[in-house]
Amino acid sequence: MYTWNDIEQHIAACSHCPLSQTRHLPVMGRGDHNADIMLIAEAPGEQEDLKGLPFVGRSGRILDELLEDCSLRREEIYITNILKCHPPGNRNPKEEEKESCFPYLKYETFLLKPKIIVCLGRVAAQRIISPDFKITRQHGTWTYQKDCAMTAVYHPSAILRDPSKLEITKRDFREIVRKREELAVEY
Ligand code: URA
Repeated sequence: MYTWNDIEQHIAACSHCPLSQTRHLPVMGRGDHNADIMLIAEAPGEQEDLKGLPFVGRSGRILDELLEDCSLRREEIYITNILKCHPPGNRNPKEEEKESCFPYLKYETFLLKPKIIVCLGRVAAQRIISPDFKITRQHGTWTYQKDCAMTAVYHPSAILRDPSKLEITKRDFREIVRKREELAVEY
């Protein structure tokens, strides 16, 4: 049985795919290991690669704005990515990279046992919720797997490209907090 520390050490030493040759630092998930909400994004960007932390660049500032709007704090949730290493030039992750990194996400999810998984953007939603997930039509909708409610919202970098998505995504995040309250009553 792996611990959080074991996973961190495996990721730090990982050389399963070529991204390990080009990354500066691997980016492990961060946050509360007892969180009921897990955010899963795509892959670290340039700033994240340099600092070894998720969402510390421009999209991190958008994420902070979304969290603040619904009174969530980073310290009370858990934020991670499908890929732990930065794909050069911010290109989309390749299938083989997603596959070789996926066991880390599985362990993180197993240890955390979140009640709510929020996919940030299409790439995460298609890997976690459904391969044909359409982020434009289906963001903010819910599916349930075992004891976990799953949804997807626009990725913060999509909001940077199209600021009209900010308000919609704030609404989706408020709904996530509402869902957490609803689930807390049921448990
Ligand atoms: N974009 C992501 O998908 N993940 C990060 O950690 C930062 C930017």
